[in-house]
Amino acid sequence: MSEVTRIDSWPQQETRGHKIPGYRYTSKAFFEQEWEGMWTKVWLLLGREAELPEPGDWQMEPVGVEEVLMVRQKDGSVKAFYNVCQHRGNPLVDDSKGHVLRRFVCKYHSWAFTPDGTLNFAPDKEDFPEGDPCKNVRLSELRCETFAGFVWVNMDPDCKPLKEFLGPIWEDWEKRDIHTWKRTMANTMWLPCNWKIVLDNFNESYHVPTVHMRATPDTDRKKIRGAIDTYFKETKFDLSNEGHNRMVMKGGFGVGQTDEEGNILEPLATQLRYWDLDPEEFKGRPEDTREAIQQAKRRLGPERGYTHYDRIPDEQFTDAFHYTLFPNFAVSLWSDGFHFLRARPHPTDPEQCLFDNWWYSSPASMQEPTGALNRANGDADMSAVEEAPVNRLSYPEDSIGPAIEEDVAVFVTQQRGFRSRGFKGVYLSKQETRIRRYHELIDDYIEGRLP
Ligand code: FES
Ligand SMILES: [Fe+2]
Repeated sequence: MSEVTRIDSWPQQETRGHKIPGYRYTSKAFFEQEWEGMWTKVWLLLGREAELPEPGDWQMEPVGVEEVLMVRQKDGSVKAFYNVCQHRGNPLVDDSKGHVLRRFVCKYHSWAFTPDGTLNFAPDKEDFPEGDPCKNVRLSELRCETFAGFVWVNMDPDCKPLKEFLGPIWEDWEKRDIHTWKRTMANTMWLPCNWKIVLDNFNESYHVPTVHMRATPDTDRKKIRGAIDTYFKETKFDLSNEGHNRMVMKGGFGVGQTDEEGNILEPLATQLRYWDLDPEEFKGRPEDTREAIQQAKRRLGPERGYTHYDRIPDEQFTDAFHYTLFPNFAVSLWSDGFHFLRARPHPTDPEQCLFDNWWYSSPASMQEPTGALNRANGDADMSAVEEAPVNRLSYPEDSIGPAIEEDVAVFVTQQRGFRSRGFKGVYLSKQETRIRRYHELIDDYIEGRLP
């Protein structure tokens, strides 16, 4: 039995063979069906509890045509409201975060709403034929729950609880203290592509050698490995009943990380030293570093402040657990942090999306000179104690960040290809099945089979 199969498998899923035609990425009519049928019915990861430490703190985030205002309450809970005044529809706030001392005051006619959504002041309130607005009107609320330090919202008042929606993700994530992790880097930009192009990409690792490792038809795909082994025969793929996906790839081991004499190269060498291992001892046998690091983390982790190590299996000390959460969130989860990738639809244009390339790190791993996040991302601020601010960047002038900019280049060209009448629909490998299932789920929502 290989190491990876010691992690439980999720149930097998059937797919129907969707051809995924190009109009799904370009058509305004399909975009509107998707909004009404799917986006307004699913749980969306939208805020972070650490952004809202005190009662009255708020965060406002867009998704499609909506803006969602998340507000910390006096009792410690979080409520979510549509960012719209119930007098005549003016948005209540314009910024992405802030604090209200007493009330949100609308800039049009001064209607004032308390943080729990109650209207408690309207000028000339005796002048309303339908009665005092303060007795009849309040902010319009969305379902809101918190999990793993994130604020999740759902526009469907009859939706099932978040835990049920997340299925096996809940248990997998609960084992780590994700709520204590801090955002160490946040790059965000509008991209000229449909949001599904982004999720399709994170739903497969088939592109990794070509896009990220300059592989050509002559390259032996079994030999390209780097710090994560993305070869499909070594990867564990899972599709959950709830529609979320998981891809487990062995990581933290040194194939491709040695020189010609077999010496362990940086950054693996520094990582080994940090965990009291001698890189010299692994000369010529880089694959053995994976298990050695697992054992060292098991032994030394707790005393170095890694609070969740006694709850996770060995594989999770080194391997990449890459999840896609339906519909729009992908995350490479490591033992000590994660790569947060999210795509949100544009209010009106199917050919644009708002893309986030963020990183989070556990407090203990911020001391580690070659933590997973440092290795993969040169510009993360690992000394951060506050959540790193969001850098609002512009495409194509700015880079979204190393590695991911290589994906973005393909997102933009693929969008062009999807406009062609010559594109006959996809021809997928088995390792790309998660893409097909994703699209079939979207249809299940649009056609009323879900939720
Ligand atoms: S629209 Fe808000 S007070 Fe009139
Ligand atoms: Fe990629």
